[in-house]
Amino acid sequence: MNWTNGEINEAHEQLLIPLFEGIDRAPNNALSGLSRTQRNLVKEAISSDEFNGKKGQRMVVWTPGCRVMLIGMGEKGVLGHRAARNTGARVMSSLSKKKGISVCVRFTSGWSRERMLDFAEGMMLRDYEFLEHQEIDSGHILDPWSIEFQASPRYKESLAEGLHKIHSVVGGVHLARDLGNDPANVMYPMEYARRAEDWAADKDNVKVEVYDWEMLQELGMGGLINVGKGSERKPCMVLFTLNPKVDEGVQRPCIVGKGITFDTGGISIKPTGGMWDMKYDMCGAATVFGLMEALHSTGFQRRVNGIACLAENMPGSGAYRPGDVFKTYSGKTIEVFSTDAEGRNVLSDGLWKAGELDPEYIVDLATLTGAVVTALGNQISGMWANDDGIAKRVKSAASRSGEPVWRMPLNAQFRKYMTDSAFADIRNGSIGGRAGSSNTAASFLEFFVPNRGFEESGEKIPWVHLDIAGTAWGPGSKARSEGANPLFQYGTSGVHVRTLHRLISED
Ligand code: BES
Ligand code: MN
Ligand code: ZN
Repeated sequence: MNWTNGEINEAHEQLLIPLFEGIDRAPNNALSGLSRTQRNLVKEAISSDEFNGKKGQRMVVWTPGCRVMLIGMGEKGVLGHRAARNTGARVMSSLSKKKGISVCVRFTSGWSRERMLDFAEGMMLRDYEFLEHQEIDSGHILDPWSIEFQASPRYKESLAEGLHKIHSVVGGVHLARDLGNDPANVMYPMEYARRAEDWAADKDNVKVEVYDWEMLQELGMGGLINVGKGSERKPCMVLFTLNPKVDEGVQRPCIVGKGITFDTGGISIKPTGGMWDMKYDMCGAATVFGLMEALHSTGFQRRVNGIACLAENMPGSGAYRPGDVFKTYSGKTIEVFSTDAEGRNVLSDGLWKAGELDPEYIVDLATLTGAVVTALGNQISGMWANDDGIAKRVKSAASRSGEPVWRMPLNAQFRKYMTDSAFADIRNGSIGGRAGSSNTAASFLEFFVPNRGFEESGEKIPWVHLDIAGTAWGPGSKARSEGANPLFQYGTSGVHVRTLHRLISED
């Protein structure tokens, strides 16, 4: 989308006017730029009983040369960020480029800067399609939307600044979606690494390092090696640093992502029905990359680290097996209970590596367990934390971003479920089986979050784990049908790029 913002004047080919409830005549300015004939048509529509600004109401008024859409926003005092954002998204999905790509969104009385930006954010988020691998219909218009957001002149600068930032962050969300939507035959571990290096090549304040197959052996990253060794597409770790020369010796955030480019389950193979979605099993790593892009393009000046743990989980003669015991980067050993509990294995190396950076806090994102989908559904991510302060901050950033999280328990019982292996330091399957298996997975990860300075008596590094198995993509993801979340139509959501951007940039 190409966007501009300005004062209320020209109406463009399509004019969108979001109005609050109780409206019985057109607010001042709402009809600027329209001819007398056009104005009369819209005025009549607004004063009719057919439109009164109720929430969810829409009315399209055809006028010569301009299609006008009246959008009911409900009561003025009640409009929150979520409703504003979702309405923006729904409106976007209802527009047709065939009616003209030059659009005006006109905010008149009752609109605050914040709500205008939320509405615009919804529009921008929804303006996404993934057409990489298909022939495009001749009738499909690829030219980007050209949208002017109009408001009273007193908002001119602050709106421009806000729109600029939102557009940049949404660019990061869309990058995360692109990475997730690419199929596993295209998006494999070293391809992610290649794209990361490509992305960094023309930027002087980012650094991307890749630990390839040889390097993983040298470093003893057994989690990545074991999960990835059954595939011809070898695993790797990708380390991002934004502003590497800044904040030397200062504790800064580190974000870690699960990047299983395809999860067959390995030797503990998944049933066919459960496998299709597993091309999305790298969405944690996709969010890390998208976040780096969002921070970079909004001009964020401080250092941030990102770590993506990439592997393809395949069965094969070289694959790891149930019963195997291997050493991770931390030196701790894992007994393999199920090769399908692979996400936690690769994250064990990523979390330990994060500890080396002496981070202010660690947030990991992973499509880790099917059980979290059962527990929380497709609109709420599971959150586990070893520290109340960081948990609160993530929760509030997530909630303000419309990407809610729900805190789940970590306790001694769940820890014991995992650390009771007879053969290794920890086992990747719980003695409780499916009971609380998202919680036991989280306590497995907790086992690999080092204390500061790797001292046994050192303080805990604040850590948050987000299980995004339910939220990284949505129902309706296999077709172009409408999912429950209006911010995206199908495929992946790019979840938590915005949450983490907010957490990191607004502290
Ligand atoms: N990637 C899956 C989790 C998953 C399942 C995400 C369904 C989204 C939808 C993960 O690697 C996995 O297989 N987890 C197992 C763990 C079990 C073997 C302990 C699970 O959830 O069943
Ligand atoms: Mn798995
Ligand atoms: Zn997985």
